[in-house]
Amino acid sequence: MANAVERVAVLGGRGMLGSEVGAVLRAAGYAVRSYDLPECDVTVPSALEAALAGVTAVVNCAAFTAVDAAESQASRAMAVNAEAPGVLGRLAARRGIYVLHVSTDFVFDGALDRPYREDDEARPLNVYGASKLAGERALAAAGGAQATVRVQWTYGAAGANFVSRFLERASSTTDLMMVADQVGAPTWTGDVAAALAHLLARRATGLFHYAAAGAATRYEVAAAILALRGLYGRRLEACRTADFPAAARRPLNSRFDCSRIDAMGVPARPPWREALARFLETTA
Ligand SMILES: NC(=O)c1ccc[n+]([C@@H]2O[C@H](COP(=O)([O-])OP(=O)(O)OC[C@H]3O[C@@H](n4cnc5c(N)ncnc54)[C@H](OP(=O)(O)O)[C@@H]3O)[C@@H](O)[C@H]2O)c1
Repeated sequence: MANAVERVAVLGGRGMLGSEVGAVLRAAGYAVRSYDLPECDVTVPSALEAALAGVTAVVNCAAFTAVDAAESQASRAMAVNAEAPGVLGRLAARRGIYVLHVSTDFVFDGALDRPYREDDEARPLNVYGASKLAGERALAAAGGAQATVRVQWTYGAAGANFVSRFLERASSTTDLMMVADQVGAPTWTGDVAAALAHLLARRATGLFHYAAAGAATRYEVAAAILALRGLYGRRLEACRTADFPAAARRPLNSRFDCSRIDAMGVPARPPWREALARFLETTA
């Protein structure tokens, strides 16, 4: 159980993951202050200093997450995802504040034919992934007590994501397509938040991978969403990523080896389908 007087700042606190992190930490007894744009721009050092005042830990969920837009807005993506974590790390280290940072499977090129471990070589395919990798490294170089958790294919109540976008499409059309060559694990932000809270309470340090248990193609996830929602009148066709060129290239294999974070005793990672079913039951 957390110390009731411990104060924690959550950056990107109104985002999809940040809002869940705030809720989980508050429920665990922390005094949480959530920050987001516009009042706290993480690229402004004085805003970071203000957010760090009086806290013992900070969770950084702030990020430039528009993967395709990052290709044409590289300097903004780098400022938010690469430079800000370094500045945050240095400010926090000087003040003895623990930093928990969030990163992504997009640091990998997806070419391996097995789940990725934390020490596998990172080789991003796009600007977003490169900026997130640079952020991980800038934070690690800052010293101080800190951990970075890479997550993937996250969905949650606050924010657009793969699940909400697919449901939106399924509500307006009967003929649907989904790529069947990207493999990963859709992961509920509530589960991520519980794992982050666990690491924070233990002041875990280092690099971790977190995803729901199991793996599926995006096509299989889409089929599960249709079945779980009872949308049987839809036709779902499988296609390939290469059939739909986007501004940013995506890794085909996003699977994570999560044995390191499991060894930290985080709550059991639910199978992706179970977590998805629970999520869909609670959303309209
Ligand atoms: N969503 C996924 O599938 C996924 C997958 C892997 C990793 N991640 C990582 O998970 C973490 C949380 O992302 P998310 O999914 O919760 O995305 P999100 O909903 O876009 O949350 C990011 C939050 O950061 C805010 N933000 C953007 N620029 C900022 C700045 N300069 N200063 C302060 N806040 C800023 C955003 O505000 P605005 O909305 O106003 O821009 C948003 O509230 C990120 O590190 C992301 O890279 C996400």
